[in-house]
Amino acid sequence: MTTFDGWDPTQYNRFAQQREQPFWDLANLIHEVPGPRVVDLGCGDGRLTALLGAQLHASSVAGIDSSLAMINAAAAHANGSTQFVLADIGTWQEPSSYDVVFANASLQWVPDHPSALAKWADSLRDGGQLAVQVPANADHPSHVIAATVAAEMLSDPPPDAVAENVLTPERYATILDGLGFVEQHVRLQVYAHRLASTSEVVEWVKGTTLTRFKQALGEAGFEQFVERYRARLLDEVGDQAPYLYPFKRILMWARRS
Ligand SMILES: C[S@@+](CC[C@H](N)C(=O)[O-])C[C@H]1O[C@@H](n2cnc3c(N)ncnc32)[C@H](O)[C@@H]1O
Repeated sequence: MTTFDGWDPTQYNRFAQQREQPFWDLANLIHEVPGPRVVDLGCGDGRLTALLGAQLHASSVAGIDSSLAMINAAAAHANGSTQFVLADIGTWQEPSSYDVVFANASLQWVPDHPSALAKWADSLRDGGQLAVQVPANADHPSHVIAATVAAEMLSDPPPDAVAENVLTPERYATILDGLGFVEQHVRLQVYAHRLASTSEVVEWVKGTTLTRFKQALGEAGFEQFVERYRARLLDEVGDQAPYLYPFKRILMWARRS
């Protein structure tokens, strides 16, 4: 199981509104079926998991996350038909159990996507639907500069999960086909996030990609890292206000026969 627990639900939710659009774009790819059994892999604090269950009129909802902080926060949304469980979505598999396997902005943290997607596909019942969204923005300065600064401050910096793990849209299409899905929709979408200023990018990535440096650098080292990162980012991108943060994401949906 992943032991890293650098997630901070409050920091992550600072940009909840901008982050929610891809979630709903993904949810809207799911075809309506009566009372589906739904699992949300990498469910985070469970707020959106509960809303997803309501939108799909789910008969049951399971939220899975490897972060104790997130699972503890999600407990507020648990009820008779909605449960949250601490587990690693990279190895998670419950054969023929769900009508919808949903994963928004979580698969990127897992290595070996062909293997993980095979386990997720196996967890679907006949006719079940898979819906997955991953960021694909590793080539943007916000991510490239993080890796550069980390290499200056650490001898063995933790890698960028998106750069390491995320595949191309066409590769996902091929994987889904190989897993026997009879229908699929895979697309790359650019989200144009209008931020108040370039500096807001720092707050954005502090809730996601930079969390990986917290453990390695410690509290004081991380603060130093963030300030060096901010200076470098403003230098390269320019201190703009407002700033349009273009963010590429891959959305995929597929249905079993
Ligand atoms: C970017 S957040 C997305 C949360 C939620 N799906 C949403 O759309 O708001 C990624 C979540 O994936 C979880 N996560 C990362 N790696 C994981 C793993 N190997 N197993 C389970 N959860 C994982 C994190 O703890 C975090 O809650």
